[in-house]
Amino acid sequence: MNQKNAWNDLYMKHKRAWDGFADMLWITEHLKKGAEILELGVGNGKTLISLIKERYVCTGVDFSECAVGRIKERLLRTGEVERCRLIVSDVMNLPHDLGKFDAVIMIYLLNHLPLNHGRNLFESIPLLLKSGGMVFAEAFGPGDLRNSRGTKKRRGIMYRYHTIGEWKNLGGDGLELIDLKLLQREKRYGDKHVTRESIRGIWKRI
Ligand SMILES: C[S@@+](CC[C@H](N)C(=O)[O-])C[C@H]1O[C@@H](n2cnc3c(N)ncnc32)[C@H](O)[C@@H]1O
Repeated sequence: MNQKNAWNDLYMKHKRAWDGFADMLWITEHLKKGAEILELGVGNGKTLISLIKERYVCTGVDFSECAVGRIKERLLRTGEVERCRLIVSDVMNLPHDLGKFDAVIMIYLLNHLPLNHGRNLFESIPLLLKSGGMVFAEAFGPGDLRNSRGTKKRRGIMYRYHTIGEWKNLGGDGLELIDLKLLQREKRYGDKHVTRESIRGIWKRI
C-alpha cells in the first residue's frame, strides 16, 4: 500500500484520530494576529482548526482526501469553512501558486518523511515565505515510546524518528535556525512509566 492510501485508510477507520485542541502557544507567540499560515501535513485539522479559531488566515495541505474532507465537515458544522483554504497535494510536489506566508508549520509531518525528503522539502520552503517569515516544526524524537516498539511501519504508515543533530542541518542556506528543543515528559499508563519525546524547531527566512 502506498503512503497516501495508508493514511486515507487510517482516517476512514478512525474517525476521531487527533481530534481536540492543539498546543500552539510556542508558534503563536511569534506571530501577529491575522498572520497567514501554511500548514503542511494538516491531517484532520487539530492544529489548523485551533489556529482558525484564533483568527489566523490558514491554508492546509495534505495528500489524504479523507483527512481534508474531515476538516471541511468540522468547519461546515461551525460555519468557519470560508475562513481557510484546503489543498489535497503531496508536500513533495506542491502547487506552484500557493502564495507566500508569514509562517509554514509542520506538526508531526516529519515523522513520516525520510530525512532526504525532509531536506528537499525545507529547500522549497523559503520560496513560500514572506520576508521575515518563519518555520515551525514538531515531531516525535528517537527517545519517544513509539520508537521503542521496534517497527518503522504501523498500519502501512511509515514512521521515522530523526535526531536533534539531523534537524540542525535541515534549514540549509535559505533558513536560519532560531531555536531547537528536545522536550521529554515522563508519563504513567497504569503501572508503566514511559517517556514521550518530541523535537521542536523554529527557523527564519534569511
Ligand atoms: C500525524 S498527521 C498530522 C497531524 C496534524 N498536523 C495535526 O497537527 O493534527 C501527519 C499527516 O501528514 C500527512 N502526510 C504524510 N506524508 C505526506 C506527504 N508526503 N504529503 C502530504 N501529506 C502527507 C498524512 O496524510 C497525515 O495527515
